[in-house]
Amino acid sequence: MGLFPFMSKIVRKGKCLFLLLLCLCVVAWIATITIDNTNKPFQDGSKSPDDKSVAGFKQMELESEMIQSIEEQSAKETCPKQSPLRRGAIKLSFDPSLTIGQVERENGEVVEGQYNPSDCIARQSVAILIPHRNREKHLLYLLHHLHPFLQRQQLHYAIYVIHQAGVATFNRAKLLNVGYLEALNDHSWDCFVFHDVDLVPENDHNLYMCDKQPKHLVVGRNSTGYKLRYKGYFGGVSAMTKEQFFKVNGFPNTYWGWGGEDDDLRIRLTLQKMSIIRPALEVGRYTMVFHNRDNGNQINKDRMHLLRRTHQTWKTDGLNSCSYKVLSVQRAPLYINVTVDVGRPERAH
Ligand code: BGC
Repeated sequence: MGLFPFMSKIVRKGKCLFLLLLCLCVVAWIATITIDNTNKPFQDGSKSPDDKSVAGFKQMELESEMIQSIEEQSAKETCPKQSPLRRGAIKLSFDPSLTIGQVERENGEVVEGQYNPSDCIARQSVAILIPHRNREKHLLYLLHHLHPFLQRQQLHYAIYVIHQAGVATFNRAKLLNVGYLEALNDHSWDCFVFHDVDLVPENDHNLYMCDKQPKHLVVGRNSTGYKLRYKGYFGGVSAMTKEQFFKVNGFPNTYWGWGGEDDDLRIRLTLQKMSIIRPALEVGRYTMVFHNRDNGNQINKDRMHLLRRTHQTWKTDGLNSCSYKVLSVQRAPLYINVTVDVGRPERAH
């Protein structure tokens, strides 16, 4: 064997050795990367493939739920004109041991004072406005009866309790103006029901919906032998659309104490050529929960004087001049509690 073939054999073997070494290095490098990745914790918020698929699945679930609710909404029909859930005349009872917790438990579908029927689209959205001060028990009785009553009428509704803070004489009318203005911050309600806290409706055929004309709902009450007090009576519970109430510039703000503000509103309606409609006598029946006249709600001796001037004052005394300070808005399970400082009378009575 000559020198040349011997050398070329050595070179060939060296090449093979080199290739073998190269392969071993590559295999070792791949192994390091794999081990590294398996042991390394997920850093910088990066997600494991498992996490990513869970998140993706949740997202898909959410989207399909949304689509389903949109579909359900568009598939829903408008609630019937006559709700099949109504029961007619109901025997009312007022249990002194009733608690707010009990009423809350009975009205699980009411959220922060608001309810919307689940199986049909309500014909109207109605804000119930209750002026209030120191009448907790009356409020409890009213909530107890009113929530199921309104649900049986298949309404989208919310109950606002407008609570007058301080010791100044009570001002029902101004509280109702505040209720109207504040409730419109939440939703563009179609209809407003101005509701005394001590009157409980006896018949759910008495619709808490607005009509082409302002509606007076209290035709009779137990305390007056279920008779209408007088032809133009517009107190207790009445319903007006957002537009009707706006057109008359709301209630006057200047009636402090008991009486006259409802007559003033009626005069405003008449000036706007509106008329009052009422349900049938047997339907517009209410039970008045007995109470003595409250301190701070003495008879308004100025009311006759004020009423004589309504045709001059209505344009400047009302929604457009209602100044007040909201002290708090609490969204309790069964009602929205707006506590307000409405000021005090300019002149002492
Ligand atoms: C008052 C009204 C009150 C009505 C019924 C009238 O004299 O002015 O405010 O609603 O009596 O009691």
